[in-house]
Amino acid sequence: MNLNKTVFVRSAASAKDFPSDAQKRFVFVGRSNVGKSSTINSIVGKKGFAKVSSMPGKTVYVNLFNVEDKAWIIDLPGYGYSKTSKVERERYSKLIDDYFARDMANISRIYVILDIRHKPTADDQMMVEWIRAYDLPMTIVANKLDKLKKSQIEPALALIRETLQLDGSVKLIPYSAEKNEGRDALISDMLDVFN
Ligand code: GTP
Ligand code: MG
Repeated sequence: MNLNKTVFVRSAASAKDFPSDAQKRFVFVGRSNVGKSSTINSIVGKKGFAKVSSMPGKTVYVNLFNVEDKAWIIDLPGYGYSKTSKVERERYSKLIDDYFARDMANISRIYVILDIRHKPTADDQMMVEWIRAYDLPMTIVANKLDKLKKSQIEPALALIRETLQLDGSVKLIPYSAEKNEGRDALISDMLDVFN
């Protein structure tokens, strides 16, 4: 699977537009504004591919990318943005629930994107517990690494592990979508699925 060959296929506003084939799914979830879309851009090596928000809560659809008819990369709308209206928030959470309910069996990995500077929120914990409850393969990506000083990195990673109660088997990848740091680790985690 050559990630440089990723193409945008469509934005899905409801379950009927989700993929229905048996290709592998890589799903990106996380709070609004943590950099899900930026992380996808960095792994596919194209800026401005998945839309990056200047305002949080911008990805209101499930954006579907495809890699060589082998895998789907799925950019879910961000959760937990407090200024979004209640109606919009309910629409998002329904869309995310619908996506999971329908597509769970095909998911190869869920990437939970966090902002490395912040302690994971209650929403993040809920997401992780949910993924665990369904026994789905999960990797944590601690993004915005470029915003920390070297000495702050280890404590930040420890706080994430502790808050989310990650055991040693869960990969936690420090990442910077801005500087492409951690990119090789993330890509090899994705490619492992094919081995
Ligand atoms: P929603 O789609 O709204 O949920 O947001 P998102 O999680 O897709 O975040 P997005 O990729 O749109 O990025 C949000 C903001 O964070 C943008 O201003 C990005 O430029 C910035 N950003 C993303 N990744 C990084 C990073 O690694 N470092 C820095 N410094 N900024 C980043
Ligand atoms: Mg986005």
